[in-house]
Amino acid sequence: MSNLTNKRIVLGVCGSIAAYKSADLVRRLKEMGAEVRVVMTQSAGEFITALTLQTLSHNPVHQYLLDCDSESNMSHIELARWADIVLIAPCSANFMSKLAQGMADDLLSTVCLATRAPIVYVPAMNNVMWENKATRENVITLQKRGFVRFGPASGDQACGETGLGRMLEPVQISNQLIELFQPGLLQDKNIMITAGPTQEDIDPVRFISNRSSGKMGFAIAQAAREAGANVTLVCGPVKLTTPQGVNRLDVRTADEMKSVVMENINTTDIFISAAAVADYRPETVATKKIKKAASKLDLKLIRNPDILSLVTNEPVPPFTVGFAAETDNVRENALAKLNSKSLDMIAANEVGKEQGGFDSNENALSIYWQNGEQQLPMANKNTIARQLMTIITEKFREKSSANNALI
Ligand code: C5P
Repeated sequence: MSNLTNKRIVLGVCGSIAAYKSADLVRRLKEMGAEVRVVMTQSAGEFITALTLQTLSHNPVHQYLLDCDSESNMSHIELARWADIVLIAPCSANFMSKLAQGMADDLLSTVCLATRAPIVYVPAMNNVMWENKATRENVITLQKRGFVRFGPASGDQACGETGLGRMLEPVQISNQLIELFQPGLLQDKNIMITAGPTQEDIDPVRFISNRSSGKMGFAIAQAAREAGANVTLVCGPVKLTTPQGVNRLDVRTADEMKSVVMENINTTDIFISAAAVADYRPETVATKKIKKAASKLDLKLIRNPDILSLVTNEPVPPFTVGFAAETDNVRENALAKLNSKSLDMIAANEVGKEQGGFDSNENALSIYWQNGEQQLPMANKNTIARQLMTIITEKFREKSSANNALI
């Protein structure tokens, strides 16, 4: 395999027991054709030797910032300019904190500050450290600044605990890196994504809504942007930061979402409907707050427009992907929806379980299209979104070339 041919990767290795996996990662990146230069922090040296990483990368390992020999060999600025990407694996809680602070007190943090290349960090830490408020805030800061995160995974940890914080396996890291280097596949394509819940007014202060957080739709918007597309994100009320470079259009009700979607549908190549659109809305909206006078209140609801079906009923519909949140019979219900709504693809997940679903940062999806399906096992929503975009891109390109062949 040589999907990383000639890619120049600065691999930052921090102090973590997961550093032993960095050796295998270097080997894999080399096998895929990448050129690798390793930068170790001082504490990384407590876990793995420079000689191991030097032997596997076929390049000198960089360790010191203020060192005449190192600077004359390849200065920190040259290293920062050399990189097509900076990959930090494992990235410790301490190093995440340094990145968030913009510190430059060792070689790796200085390279990160001095580079224009994208920076990917792959966290590895104890699950309590991962869940700590300080780490959570660092994750948000890094996301806002455009850092890309791979993982972490959940499972048994070297400290004897179980939970989120395990570093991804080298094979998962190299696969995600390949996906990241694939932009261009959707260059100049227009993708519209709906996300979040809708709110359906009962009176001036009350509404009907649902538990959708919008996280999955936002992660898809980011993944679509990374793949080079022009992305429009039509979202209901959510508390999320807009991914960089994404055009966000805020709506509140299903009716508003329908209007914005239909206004933009003619220029859309791919439509991904990740929003949890309310199926019903109150028939009338009271102009004044309803008083709690009566012991019983009947609320008459009427059907909202099915936006997804309106899109697929267009004379020339875009490549259309729907979502199905199901509590049972996931496969059957998803396939029924794929057909009844004339979709190109449907992404189904089981909701109402402990892990994954609405407000979670993780999700697992089952993807179905005509004559095919693929399972995406439980992972961070950003990871799932990139995997989903890879499948969508492949199927969209297949359909486009089949259509072109017919012309
Ligand atoms: O039929 P069901 O609501 O389960 O279908 C879910 C899919 O349809 C999702 O992709 C959702 O975004 C979309 N949908 C819609 N408009 C509605 C209801 C659902 O676009 N009114």
